[in-house]
Amino acid sequence: MKKTTYLLLLLVLYSGCHSLRKSEQLSFNTFNAVSQKKVIVQNGAVVSAHPLASKVGLEMLKMGGNAFDAAIATQLALAVVYPNAGNLGGGGFMVARLANGDLKTLDYREKAPIKGFKEMYIDENGKAHTELSQNGHLSAGVPGTVAGLFATLPYARLPMKQLIQPAIELAEKGFLITAAEARSLNSLKKTFEKYNTVRPVFVKAGPWSDGDTLIQKDLAATLKRIRDNGQKGFYEGETARLIVEEMKRGHGIIGYKDLKNYKAIFREPHVFTYKGYSIVGMPMPSSGGLLLNQMMKMVEDRPLPEYGFLSPRSVQLMIEAERRAFADRAEYMGDADFYPVPVSMLSNESYLQDRMKDFVPGKAGSSKITQPGLSPVKESEETTHLSIIDRDGNAVSITTTLNNSYGSKTVVGGAGFFLNDEMDDFSIKPGVPNMFGAVGGEANAIMPGKRMLSSMTPTIVLKDNAPFLVLGTPGGTTIPTSVFQTIIDIIDFDMNTEDAVNQPKFHHQWLPDRVDIEKNFPQSLRASLEKMGYTLQERESIGRTEVIKVLYKTALNENFKGQFFEAVADNRGNDAAEGY
Ligand code: DON
Repeated sequence: MKKTTYLLLLLVLYSGCHSLRKSEQLSFNTFNAVSQKKVIVQNGAVVSAHPLASKVGLEMLKMGGNAFDAAIATQLALAVVYPNAGNLGGGGFMVARLANGDLKTLDYREKAPIKGFKEMYIDENGKAHTELSQNGHLSAGVPGTVAGLFATLPYARLPMKQLIQPAIELAEKGFLITAAEARSLNSLKKTFEKYNTVRPVFVKAGPWSDGDTLIQKDLAATLKRIRDNGQKGFYEGETARLIVEEMKRGHGIIGYKDLKNYKAIFREPHVFTYKGYSIVGMPMPSSGGLLLNQMMKMVEDRPLPEYGFLSPRSVQLMIEAERRAFADRAEYMGDADFYPVPVSMLSNESYLQDRMKDFVPGKAGSSKITQPGLSPVKESEETTHLSIIDRDGNAVSITTTLNNSYGSKTVVGGAGFFLNDEMDDFSIKPGVPNMFGAVGGEANAIMPGKRMLSSMTPTIVLKDNAPFLVLGTPGGTTIPTSVFQTIIDIIDFDMNTEDAVNQPKFHHQWLPDRVDIEKNFPQSLRASLEKMGYTLQERESIGRTEVIKVLYKTALNENFKGQFFEAVADNRGNDAAEGY
């Protein structure tokens, strides 16, 4: 047999085997998860952290769904195929622009349980116990995600039954895990054993390897209860019973009433302008929209395009804007339903210009107060962002999280999903940094039913009232600074979308007083910043930014007509862009 014929035969046999494992319902091979990093399409696009989840979203668009259908189905798929951040047991925020031009923001952030209280992580000697706010049953806030999905449903076209089916199939039949996922599960085996009362599927006798199939029967059963009983399939009945039983076994405090009373809330979007663009962000309890507003307004009147991308001048200016915005975050920001956050003062242009009065070009500013034993920031990038757009003009930007990777590390016994460790986003004691090094005080103190302050920054940028950018990223406190830099890169530095996503990022958050930089940050720039007096700290990576940019025909060659969606997934992870 000729070598080419033989190879062809092998190829046919190989694809035959794989199509046997193809889902009965879905048009794509659920055992083949190759990440596509960029698409330019005309009908609709989805970018998320996992190729299977992006494909599920695309499938919904192709079946006649809109961006909201894709958003619901993609989030549900992420809860199965990306258990470190995709979730049923966490919470998130959605910023959306409807085809008719209306703007919506949906808050499905977790809340402190009714039994939560200000000093719940402080012992009799006044010591704060972050190990309790960051791991195990007591670190979990009341989950908001399922309420968020049902609050989104009225804007979608397809029934929940159809939107949830791909997730059920992926949980029941399984999917192949990658080498990185295997490594991550193996490295956490002992931690999972420590924080679980019932052994979860994520722990197995031997080690996980690249290409193993992860089947999640308990999670499939939970998804079916949600399919059959709606929101009550999670917040009441069997799933609620399993959550409360889990709490009892692990000394947690979430009760039936917490679950039954949970409500996702539509809030007034935080909107501001920047150089003629309208920027639509999330209001409190996320600091994201306001921080972005503050940082962008602090640099708007400076000649950034002249300074240039990653020039010492532009980077220093942006660092100093970041420092000042994060100082305000620590002092003033928290759940505005519980604390009077002075949003109009903090976003007032003359206040922000005043804030920059002590900025000295070429010289590092100061965070002034002594630093109360700040620990280094952990290298977790395990929140997740999805950006979606459709041809009707619906645009959806969602960031969702369990907080840390795999949240509290506790899986609800019999229900198959991880609980979040979002309680650590509260200021558990004034001056005590959370896992991202962020400090806070009264504005973000724990109270029953209060939502913990977030940095998540799902964002939509409008040009002439039409979608221009749909973007966001995970990364804890680095989220607002990454979104800030990505928008500046595109608007001020006229950078192409892939570079805006993948070029090195930097981050300052007031305290600790240092600049975090990605490892590919240029050497000469490091030297310039150090000379100005900055302390630099290298990090493996900052964020995983997903961007959809709307291109108009002038941006492409003359044969193209109308608008196109350029969807770009971050190279830092397995993130994938899909569209048609
Ligand atoms: O809401 C917040 O700001 C955090 N819980 C987000 C956590 C996160 O991004 C983790 N990944 N890096």
